[in-house]
Amino acid sequence: MSRTLRVLVVEDSEDDTLLLIRELRRGGYDPVFQRVDTRADMNNALDRRQWDIVIADYSLPNFSAPEALGLLKERGFDLPFIIVSGSIGEDTAVAAMKSGAHDYIMKDNFARLLPAIARELREAVGRRERKKAEEALRESEERYRDLFENANDIIYTLDLEGNFTSFNRTGERITGYSRDEIIGSNFANIVKPGQQDVFHQMLKRKLAGEEQISYELEIVAKDGRQILLDVSTRLIYKEGRPVGVQGIARDVTERKSLEAQLRQAQKMESIGTLAGGIAHDFNNILTGIIGFADLALFNLSAQHPLYHSLQEIKNLGERAARLTRQLLAFARKQMLEPQPFNLNDVITDLSKFLRRVIGEHIDLQTILANDLAIVHADVSQIEQVLVNLCVNARDAMSHGGKLVIETRNVDLDEMYCQTHPWAKPGNYVLLSVSDTGVGMDRATQERIFEPFFTTKELGQGTGLGLAMVYGIIKQHEGLIHVYSEPGHGSTFKIYLPAISGQAKAAERPIIEAPRGGSETILIAEDETSVRELIVAILETQGYSVLTASNGEDAVRVFEQNREGIDLIISDAVMPRLGGRELYEILQRRFPALKFLFISGYSVNAMSERFIIDEGLELLHKPFNTIDLIRKVRELLDR
Ligand SMILES: Nc1ncnc2c1ncn2[C@@H]1O[C@H](COP(=O)(O)OP(=O)(O)OP(=O)(O)O)[C@@H](O)[C@H]1O
Ligand SMILES: [Mg+2]
Repeated sequence: MSRTLRVLVVEDSEDDTLLLIRELRRGGYDPVFQRVDTRADMNNALDRRQWDIVIADYSLPNFSAPEALGLLKERGFDLPFIIVSGSIGEDTAVAAMKSGAHDYIMKDNFARLLPAIARELREAVGRRERKKAEEALRESEERYRDLFENANDIIYTLDLEGNFTSFNRTGERITGYSRDEIIGSNFANIVKPGQQDVFHQMLKRKLAGEEQISYELEIVAKDGRQILLDVSTRLIYKEGRPVGVQGIARDVTERKSLEAQLRQAQKMESIGTLAGGIAHDFNNILTGIIGFADLALFNLSAQHPLYHSLQEIKNLGERAARLTRQLLAFARKQMLEPQPFNLNDVITDLSKFLRRVIGEHIDLQTILANDLAIVHADVSQIEQVLVNLCVNARDAMSHGGKLVIETRNVDLDEMYCQTHPWAKPGNYVLLSVSDTGVGMDRATQERIFEPFFTTKELGQGTGLGLAMVYGIIKQHEGLIHVYSEPGHGSTFKIYLPAISGQAKAAERPIIEAPRGGSETILIAEDETSVRELIVAILETQGYSVLTASNGEDAVRVFEQNREGIDLIISDAVMPRLGGRELYEILQRRFPALKFLFISGYSVNAMSERFIIDEGLELLHKPFNTIDLIRKVRELLDR
């Protein structure tokens, strides 16, 4: 079997070419050839096809072997090149070899030709393979360099002393240090104080046989920012001996802080559910205890031997009710009565009271923005927030200090919210309360909003103040944030959503002595103790009372007594038919019918919103006997 050999012959003589071809055939090749004798022809031949070898005469009338070699080089071909010639001297031959010819064969020594070709073809294969391997290596190096530089993580290597030997571009970006600054410097230099020994500890573990070690590490960037890294490292070996450490570090600062915030939010949510559930039941029980005590007191003279005990029962019940209210506030289960107002007015109205609460030794300063936007909120709840914050500030400044209450309009934009994960974009009215008191450490700050978390002595605090503040602000779709450092005071910042529009002067109730009457009132309430209490109170006032334990029942009772009923007192939330449905059914048919709603808390704020939206009357549980009597009379007289 003969092997195809593609030969480009640079030769002016047809005869010599044929001679050459014959020799090749004799050597077992099947030559495919073309003869060229000018640069232009050779150029074309090179374009037309691939060649295995070039065999050239040394000098031609219009071309030459050195010129042919030059052309190959110019065009980047690496082909075996053999000069076959009759008449050149040794010097020329050497020069030709130096310029890149692979062999030089005299025409009268053709015997050398075939072995020379065989050798050259072999070497050409070797050269090609080497070149391919080099190219592959270069490509893979480029690929790895690209990966190394542009990975999302910091990639670095250290020697066994912990000195950086390489550091990628991502590392420069995250730490702010340039490669020049980092390489040669020690790992410990960028690690947060207190964790500097981590390199040696990890190295020890690795040398003891642990292969891949992952750990968290805090470093300090060039600008002083602390960065939390998730690091994973392994040893680098050279000839079987460890020579350094290779590490990949991911910046998890933001992820960790988001996780912590989420955990915190979930914790608050579940505590809220628990607290709300307990508080709801307590509220109903307390309504009964306070109410019946109240009722009994109403019927006794102050000289009666039981009067004092009943008074005490009522006082204690009210104290419990206050706690319950605080818990309900935290659980965001309070019924809000929002109205548009200017926060500055509330602060001004309250400042005299606040001054008395915080005492002489504390300097109170208010900095109120002139153009403050209006908020839509429950005035008494916001007052409560302000009082709680001021009382805490007072307690933090037992040796005196300064309390500053400030208001300001702020727009939180997307950018701000990206760097402050607790924030939500929007226009807000900011209320900030700052003190120069003892401040708080991190651990305390993380827990201050939990109900019953207090650092105060037994009997000094219940730990419900900030829980309430938190719940109230959240229920108003607001934000709350604390800045504090031990020994440097605290600032509580509260952001309430701003609205456009006009403020309404806060409504103040008119006080009037309670009176009874003889009208007929239907009470719809599922909680037996509360229902019986209302019956008892109203009957002592001379009213005729009908009862129903849910909305359906109420409709039925109403149908039977339709002419006689002047007022319906209904719980907002009842099984079967709720307060709203009852109202809608009866109101449609008897528009003059009067309603008074009572509510313990809002299970679902939406289902009770109608009371406020429709401008209906509402009484919160636990209510006070006097308030109930007064409200009933007021409604009947309208
Ligand atoms: N301005 C402040 N400076 C320093 N620490 C504060 C400040 N405000 C709150 N704290 C800390 O947060 C804890 C919880 O406050 P919170 O108002 O919820 O409860 P409390 O004041 O201890 O009790 P309560 O308000 O129910 O009487 C406090 O015990 C205190 O450790
Ligand atoms: Mg407090």
